[in-house]
Amino acid sequence: MTELVQTRGALAAARAAREGSVGVVMTMGALHAGHAELIRTAREQADHVLVTIFVNPLQFGPSEDFDQYPRTLEGDLEICRGAGVDIVFAPSAAEVYPGGEPAVRVNPGPLGEELEGASRPGFFHGVLTVVLKLINLTRPDLVFFGEKDYQQLTLVRRMVADFNLPVRVVGVPTVREADGLALSSRNRYLSAAERATALGLSAALQAGATAAKDGADAEAVLVAARSVLAAAAPDAELDYLVLTDPDLQPRPVSGPARMLVAARVGRTRLIDNMPLHLAVAG
Ligand code: PAJ
Repeated sequence: MTELVQTRGALAAARAAREGSVGVVMTMGALHAGHAELIRTAREQADHVLVTIFVNPLQFGPSEDFDQYPRTLEGDLEICRGAGVDIVFAPSAAEVYPGGEPAVRVNPGPLGEELEGASRPGFFHGVLTVVLKLINLTRPDLVFFGEKDYQQLTLVRRMVADFNLPVRVVGVPTVREADGLALSSRNRYLSAAERATALGLSAALQAGATAAKDGADAEAVLVAARSVLAAAAPDAELDYLVLTDPDLQPRPVSGPARMLVAARVGRTRLIDNMPLHLAVAG
């Protein structure tokens, strides 16, 4: 049975009634198979699973899609019921921010200003602030975040370490469509032609990963990815395509690495990333 709670008081009561470990999956709703994979992983690792559904106004810029962001609570609850979720916390903004927008916010540090943070000022302040609040409200033993939002996952791990939060962060690999497109709530904004262009992002990352596997160095990996992106998605407006180490520090010359891409396709901003292994010093 899935229990829906919408206030902090009801959440506290539902949470207190659970013995054993609690795994929390935080979402903004419009749930898809990527979210379902986080829930499935949480069920494997925790005794109870709690899903939060909250479109956090603090992480949307003034020109972003807060008003249009899909809100599909009934469908989301259906997915949660089917996935064996114990508690869904779907609060209003007033419930999360009773005093209006908080004056005190989590500062994500230098990494918060790079990549996504460079294009979306204040984004990670908003994300980390709500994640910290939701951790305090739900009191999880484990929290599950998707690698799809790799910079978010990295910054949540940093916050948990830097603030000694008593919770374990679990990263879950990206769920993709059969053709490679990373699942995202924003994919529903894409026209058929835009979707075809969007496929160029995952194809570029895949080309980089394949080149690395074949022994290419960092520079050659980037060249391989860039050329596939230019050929497969000429209409995409590239924001960044970078190769970093797994903690998003400047790119390594060998060993485990991460390739990340962001681009605007039509009016939709899309991100994707993949792990790869650089065998040869560049
Ligand atoms: P949202 O975009 O709804 O994503 C919720 C969680 O689902 C995140 O951890 C995200 O990385 C994960 N996710 C999304 N698509 C995925 C995919 N294709 N495969 C695997 N995991 C995927 O991220 C947010 O919401 C918000 O910033 C939030 C953390 C809830 C704070 O407001």
